[in-house]
Amino acid sequence: MDNVTITDVEYQSGFGNRFASEAVPNTLPQGQNSPQQVAHGLYAESLSGTAFTAPRDENRSTWFYRIRPSVVHPPFRQIDNGLWRTAPFNDLPPPPNQLRWDPLPLPEAPTDFVGGLAAMGANGDAAGQTGIAIHIYAANRSMDDRFLQNSDGEMLLVPQQGRLVLHTELGILDVAPGEIAVVPRGIKFRVDLPDGPSRGYVCENYGQMLRLPELGPIGANGLASPRDFLSPVAAFEDRTGTFELVFKFQGNLWATDLDRSPLDVVGWHGNYVPYKYDLANFMVINTVSFDHADPSIFTVLTAPSGQPGTANVDFVIFPPRWMVAEHTFRPPWFHRNFMSEFMGLITGTYDAKAGGFSPGGASLHNCMAAHGPDAATFAAASTADLAPQKLGDTMAFMFETQYAVRPTQFALDCPQLQADYYKCWQGLEARFKP
Ligand SMILES: [Fe+2]
Repeated sequence: MDNVTITDVEYQSGFGNRFASEAVPNTLPQGQNSPQQVAHGLYAESLSGTAFTAPRDENRSTWFYRIRPSVVHPPFRQIDNGLWRTAPFNDLPPPPNQLRWDPLPLPEAPTDFVGGLAAMGANGDAAGQTGIAIHIYAANRSMDDRFLQNSDGEMLLVPQQGRLVLHTELGILDVAPGEIAVVPRGIKFRVDLPDGPSRGYVCENYGQMLRLPELGPIGANGLASPRDFLSPVAAFEDRTGTFELVFKFQGNLWATDLDRSPLDVVGWHGNYVPYKYDLANFMVINTVSFDHADPSIFTVLTAPSGQPGTANVDFVIFPPRWMVAEHTFRPPWFHRNFMSEFMGLITGTYDAKAGGFSPGGASLHNCMAAHGPDAATFAAASTADLAPQKLGDTMAFMFETQYAVRPTQFALDCPQLQADYYKCWQGLEARFKP
């Protein structure tokens, strides 16, 4: 592409901080937000990510100083939604069974991030700002002159294969597998795929924004540290040509044509910002005696629902860690949970399953659906030597949500759905000997 003005990929560190960044010196006004004339002939535009009146520690907003205000666009026209679905929908009765999928195949035809996004399930109601949608993307080309703006929710991106270079209104995030990124609701961005064929997971969060969990008795340090969250510095595109802006609004995709790149923010300040986080920086906490803690101890980010202590969605990881518990069954135990669990695997193996759960694959264990270690894992872990053991090659994650996840018809019909998943537990025989 020509005429792309970017800086090297630099970052600002912190979570929820009010950052300020300008790609051209003396862009940001001093002492006020909207001077009568903005420097360099730019326009001032504000973006609020929360209600104006939201409490201070949740209030998010950003001021943009840009080449042209966002309002300059022809009317949007509705376009095909592809496989992007939005709650509520009622494709098929959600089965109470355990569900597991092999990795979705990488496309052969040219497919960008938006075109390659397939909804696997959702809950809640985007219009009511509750619940989430869960997607898997499989794509092979950059968006280039196409941009996305999602008014239905923030997007948590979990690349599994191939880097994502997110060119956003606030600057650039270079996100490799093993890292995650969050693009807040409404922020325009495009996704470049520098490594070619790429795949990963998306949690589209219709509800309150993701934030760091409270630490309670853990204290000031532990889990994900605010300083490890990285936000971009200002980087603008002064590009003319033909561009398409896709606007996801109330469950449908709309598009308009622009004659300038919408990523034209020369300077900005605020705390409504995209960010990325390297999962390797997560400080893992668990038992140093016996048993193990509930998996909430692995929460990276949480978005509360209206119910105290209960998440619209938690983003939970199962990272490399030492297993040291004595006289303990170390893998995840058999369980049935109130919260519904969608899992993905970024790399390696997951310690509750001997096979069948591959990087790029997924599983869904909905509210009260019984699951846990497969028969082979149970047999091995029940008799294993309990010396300290490093689980080194693994990075699984979970989108854990208060509301049952309704799979899409695509998810239930696709050939990657494993019809024989249930068999992994059938070898667990009655061993009772009174
Ligand atoms: Fe589970």
